[in-house]
Amino acid sequence: IASYLNSGVGQSCDFLSSELSDGLVLNLVGHKMKNDMKSAGIGQNEDFHKDLTYRKDKIHWLETTTSNSSERLFFELIDSWISYLNQTCYAGIMKSEFHYALYEQGSFYKKHLDQFSKNDSRVFSMIMYLNANWKEGDGGELVIYKENETIKIPPSLGRMVFFDSGKYEHEVLPTIVSRLSITGWLKRS
Ligand code: OGA
Ligand code: NI
Repeated sequence: IASYLNSGVGQSCDFLSSELSDGLVLNLVGHKMKNDMKSAGIGQNEDFHKDLTYRKDKIHWLETTTSNSSERLFFELIDSWISYLNQTCYAGIMKSEFHYALYEQGSFYKKHLDQFSKNDSRVFSMIMYLNANWKEGDGGELVIYKENETIKIPPSLGRMVFFDSGKYEHEVLPTIVSRLSITGWLKRS
């Protein structure tokens, strides 16, 4: 939270424990095996479309009604994180949504904002990385464009990033190895 208040981009290196990450990775890989990870789209409602020259990740939405123990633990963690934000920052978060994301070799997501043009309900974007052996040269870094600065974030295990959804454009650089994450949004309504 301190880094968020100072710079507008918050980061934690140990948001997800490695046990929890392991469980979530198994789920993600399971969805992939069942062919249950689908190409993600762009825009909302009548603007929705898929464009593989713009983003190439595959996603699977998490359900809050899940009985999977890792996902239950994940949602508990998120709930306490939201309470913390609401109490300390009066963030007014009422809802959230999360999906698994898989960027296969060569995938990327070009520069974009996370708010839809006709809907500003997304307050914070949050990304949690699940790549145990990520190293320099593997690609797939998140680049966040601030007014006077760009921040490059390695998608390594345990790391969580959050920032204002309507404020900063960002992109995912082409990844050399397959790249796993959970991305979500904390919403006003
Ligand atoms: C997104 C996004 C960044 C990342 O899904 O909107 O910007 O690092 N993801 O996965
Ligand atoms: Ni984004």
